[in-house]
Amino acid sequence: MAIQKKWLMIGVGVWGLLSIVSSFGHSNPPITQKVNWDSPKTEALFNRVCADCHSHQTNWPWYSYVAPVSFVINHHVNEGREHFNISAGVLDEAHEAAEEYEEGEMPEGGYLNFHPEANLSPEEKAQLIAGLKATFGDGHGHGHGDDHDHDHGDGHQH
Ligand code: HEC
Repeated sequence: MAIQKKWLMIGVGVWGLLSIVSSFGHSNPPITQKVNWDSPKTEALFNRVCADCHSHQTNWPWYSYVAPVSFVINHHVNEGREHFNISAGVLDEAHEAAEEYEEGEMPEGGYLNFHPEANLSPEEKAQLIAGLKATFGDGHGHGHGDDHDHDHGDGHQH
């Protein structure tokens, strides 16, 4: 009994430490670039649905501090910012934004299950798609094809 209790304490301690460690991954670096949105409406919708992973204006919810969820969330945000970051001018793939959203590829990772406010009405959805196209282009003619699988196989380092 005493031994089990000791392991339990160690387990809780490790879990606590992991949670603390992962909270250091939560940052909102300064905003160095701004996007020229086609309208304030698009910006507002983007902030509701996409900005947590694609800007430096991430809302870190309480559960994002709890290991191991925290590691998963940190990973999503870092990955997301790496590909597309409106706060740092990472816009190489921005032309795919409307398409990704339209096809339901974004937001990824079950985000909508945790963020009911990001579930837009059909009209808002159409507005966001149109706004993304107007702001970043519509993603066609870039020859990317449909290969949106998660391992890009380009071996970038983390
Ligand atoms: C929960 C985090 C999260 C949210 C919210 C999110 N994304 Fe992403 N996004 C990612 C991750 C992670 C990647 C990079 C990996 C990948 O390609 O799936 C990514 C990649 C992208 C890319 C780069 C192209 C690509 O497929 O790699 C675009 C464009 C994009 N997202 C648009 C959006 C748009 C538009 C929204 C809102 C409608 C959105 N994302 C919401 C996590 C997110």
